Amino acid sequence: MQVKPFDAPFGADIVGVQLADISDENFAAIYEVWLGAGVLRFRDQELDDDTLKAFSSRFGELEYAPHGNVTAAQLAEIPNPYVATISNIVENGQPIGGLSNLETSWHTDMSYIEQPPTASLLYAVEVPASGGDTTFCCMRSAWRELPPSLRERCATMQIKHDAAHDSIGKMRRGHSPFDDAKEAPGVLHPVFIKHPETDDRALYLGRRKFAYIDGLALDESEALLDKIWQHVAKPTHCWTQQWRVGDLVIWDNRIVMHQRASFADSQRRLMRRTQVRSRQAPIAAVS
Ligand code: OGA
Ligand code: MN
Repeated sequence: MQVKPFDAPFGADIVGVQLADISDENFAAIYEVWLGAGVLRFRDQELDDDTLKAFSSRFGELEYAPHGNVTAAQLAEIPNPYVATISNIVENGQPIGGLSNLETSWHTDMSYIEQPPTASLLYAVEVPASGGDTTFCCMRSAWRELPPSLRERCATMQIKHDAAHDSIGKMRRGHSPFDDAKEAPGVLHPVFIKHPETDDRALYLGRRKFAYIDGLALDESEALLDKIWQHVAKPTHCWTQQWRVGDLVIWDNRIVMHQRASFADSQRRLMRRTQVRSRQAPIAAVS
């Protein structure tokens, strides 16, 4: 097994392992590298739902990843609900997975719940000829490079993370429309967080749209969020995954955010997706 750091300030390829059959010793090494790297890619993997689920659960207890807009009744029919589908494929008039072919906004997975998932894993089964790349942004670098005055303002702030929309801007089942970010359903999390296992400091933003800085007037919150977002997702803090069939990428939601580019809806993209439950809310960093 070899670790090949990405050409970026974070992330690494791990080569020479088949994840369907991995020793405890190799897993322990992978886990350590993952904590430092934030994003790991394993190419040329042959995983089915069971082996994807088994590998994912070595990172911790799994939870249901978002299953697009399926109903509770449909979810009950899914044989392996810990493995979700991200896809634009439509069968019998129904999308088989979430996120369609559209661009997603920058986001951190499920930041709108009290205890957002620690890790998300995405495995490529079918990929379009072009488009649909996923870019990751290192939020440790983003924090470090915020202007000091902004860092000082952010240090004690909390953002409310909108639960009503998904990352392509679609309203989730069971929510009703609103215009004012103050009205958005969701939970508060600190903007400046520390990683529970490494103590690394990072900026934690979720999504821009319908975010709201607790305690400010709406216009002040909007202006300050715009200012912060101007400084993040700089190319020097980012790395882009161009998917090949058999790629498995795992990311740490406490250190990175991500965004997927759109692709032609005439092309098929099929990804399998798992996520690891957290038992704690994001932790505020003090300094
Ligand atoms: C996700 C996600 C990006 C992609 O699964 O959380 O944002 O590349 N997916 O499909
Ligand atoms: Mn996501």
